[in-house]
Amino acid sequence: MKFATIGHFLDENLVKQFPESWIHGNLIISPEFDVYGTKGYITGLTLTAQEMMGFPRETVRSHILNAILLLQNDFDVDIIQLGALTTSVTDGGVWVAKQKEYKGFVNHGDSYTAAVTCQAVTKALDLFEKKSSDQVIAIVGAYGVIGEAVTKILVSQFKHSILIGRRTDKLQQLKKNVDGDFETTVELRTKEADVVVTATSHPDALLQSEHLRKNAIVVDVSQPPNLSLQVCKARPDVCRVDGGLVDFPFVTGIPGMAPGKNFSCIIEVIMQAMEDERENHVGSIDLAYLRKTEKWGKKYGFTLNELTNFGKKIEGVR
Ligand SMILES: NC(=O)c1ccc[n+]([C@@H]2O[C@H](COP(=O)([O-])OP(=O)(O)OC[C@H]3O[C@@H](n4cnc5c(N)ncnc54)[C@H](OP(=O)(O)O)[C@@H]3O)[C@@H](O)[C@H]2O)c1
Repeated sequence: MKFATIGHFLDENLVKQFPESWIHGNLIISPEFDVYGTKGYITGLTLTAQEMMGFPRETVRSHILNAILLLQNDFDVDIIQLGALTTSVTDGGVWVAKQKEYKGFVNHGDSYTAAVTCQAVTKALDLFEKKSSDQVIAIVGAYGVIGEAVTKILVSQFKHSILIGRRTDKLQQLKKNVDGDFETTVELRTKEADVVVTATSHPDALLQSEHLRKNAIVVDVSQPPNLSLQVCKARPDVCRVDGGLVDFPFVTGIPGMAPGKNFSCIIEVIMQAMEDERENHVGSIDLAYLRKTEKWGKKYGFTLNELTNFGKKIEGVR
């Protein structure tokens, strides 16, 4: 199967760094990649996170569908991965799967991302010699696609969990699927937590210094990040961890991407194409499939081996 991933601009200043030959109207398309014989493209809409979340939903969806149809019709793509906020604006990809003109498969890539996020939490606790059973965790965006899976996996491992979202009805629904000692809230009560996971569709930094307890560990999956480099610099006691980056020993040539790494959502669809698994993976995450993506990660060596913060290796015990 031939794959394509669709993201969007995480930093609008990056546009100037893309070669002209990559630009196809409002879609940037990489040259064809070959990953152990499986071929495809990494692409991105020229919409910023603010535009993705701020423009009328129908407008953004039509940009996404146009990109998908171009990739299907002119680039022979069989499977599409919805990157960054393209999942959030398409009901977890369910809307894309319903579009009749698109004949291929769709995957949000959030299953492997949720798995890698949980691995990052465990690794960070090990690094700082802390036990999850003694710690309080806050999960921001807890009923989102990634947040829900992370919640289901991690809550039972922690002393207490604070599950944060914006809508009480969705938090009520989430409660039915979670085991362990937890509470839900619409307030950003991350300061009460030792460990914070952020997996939100908020279009920029959400956590400020006052939202973080001393020595907090923040696993920031959100793209764009929910914890800025500036706050990290002002709070050296806080350890921010990139939530969804895995090793990928291929040169992507994508400006802004840490060398030797790639987003786990992109990797998930590449692995699905390598496995020739002809299925949609949209909406709520199937934990059995999430475990399968972890096995694929190990099989192909696209795994989380070191913790990074904005791509830079995190070292040592503080
Ligand atoms: N690092 C990676 O490899 C990787 C891979 C995939 C995705 N991502 C990123 O991960 C994030 C989550 O993706 P997703 O697919 O799980 O998205 P999603 O299903 O749309 O979930 C995002 C959740 O965030 C909630 N939210 C938004 N703003 C919030 C706020 N201010 N406070 C509390 N909750 C808030 C939303 O609540 P409402 O529904 O109430 O609006 C939604 O439930 C995105 O930033 C995406 O770009 C990263």
